[in-house]
Amino acid sequence: MEQSFSLFFPPQLLVGSGAVARVGEKVRELGKSQALVVTDKGVVAAGLLERVLGSLEVAGVKAHIFDQTEPNPRDRTVIKAFELAKKREVDAIIGLGGGSPMDVAKAVGVLLTNPGPLQDYLRGSPVRNPLPTVVAIPTTAGTGSEVTQFSVVTDSERKFKAGIASPLLIPRLAIVDPSLMASMPSHLAAATGMDALTHAIEAFVSRNAQPFSDALSLHAIRLIGNYLRPSVANGANEEARSQMAIASTLAGMAFSNAGVGLVHAMSHPLGGHFDIPHGVANAILLPHVMGFNLLARPEKFAQVAEALGAKLEGLSAWQAARAATEAVSQLSSDIGIPQGLRQVGVKEDSLSQVAEDALQMKRAIGWNPRVVSREEIEKIYREAW
Ligand SMILES: [Fe+2]
Repeated sequence: MEQSFSLFFPPQLLVGSGAVARVGEKVRELGKSQALVVTDKGVVAAGLLERVLGSLEVAGVKAHIFDQTEPNPRDRTVIKAFELAKKREVDAIIGLGGGSPMDVAKAVGVLLTNPGPLQDYLRGSPVRNPLPTVVAIPTTAGTGSEVTQFSVVTDSERKFKAGIASPLLIPRLAIVDPSLMASMPSHLAAATGMDALTHAIEAFVSRNAQPFSDALSLHAIRLIGNYLRPSVANGANEEARSQMAIASTLAGMAFSNAGVGLVHAMSHPLGGHFDIPHGVANAILLPHVMGFNLLARPEKFAQVAEALGAKLEGLSAWQAARAATEAVSQLSSDIGIPQGLRQVGVKEDSLSQVAEDALQMKRAIGWNPRVVSREEIEKIYREAW
């Protein structure tokens, strides 16, 4: 083996329909009694917060609620939630929702035990101290944030989606309960499912990939190929939503260890400038970036095609790799994802600046299998526009 590698996984995962009913008991087991629940208005309106609060109450855990998380959460939102956590002297933080509430919960955890302002961490200062107990409960099947070492927060001064990365950010406990995902509207199931697919594919072809992350990625791709369409078609399809929940967490474990790549480097600036949902931006960019990356790892892209169910008999290795791009485009269009950046409000005259910002996503660019220049990034944006 050429190089050694480390693996970081959450200490405990609780997976299954109805598992959220045990959150109170689990927080108690961890010796905690005052929790801040970070969530958003959509989760509250869907009646999901009630289920968490009910369980906490039964277990005698006092809950404080922060429900003001927005999509593409901003630095000032984290600071507001942090101030509430400090005032209430909480000993646990529960992130309940899509990626945004879970990412805010982690960032609040960083500020509770690490000195200095949030800006320092968004600009790369290392997180040195362990976080208080963070519990993550996803309500969408996409971000994988419940098991990752990342928190993505928008630096509003720079209009830039910045990431905090450290194994210390991995939640102490992740509860993956597909029954929380049954109320997801189909467009959200589609966008978040494409985010999970992007994580799995980017981790699989990453320069930082290794056998353990590959196993997680490939299985996630297979599940998404089989279950994303029926999951979008009908939220009451329990099997499809359960398999997507598992796929999303598998993909999260894969990219937490292997990293993402150029799709994420290019989608974050679109989120920062135009507030486009992360999954939609990824879904539009993914086939274009795959087309660019094929050259670097054709054999791995052929495996992606196979995992997505493409027929590869009689194809050359290169044609098999290209079949992955076609399979992803077909899936994305079947589930109703817009097919161009112009359809989601991206201004063509901004693409040069956006390309400049993407180039600053050094971690993701560094993991991308193919070396990329600023001009090439701008060209891919124009193709995807
Ligand atoms: Fe993502």
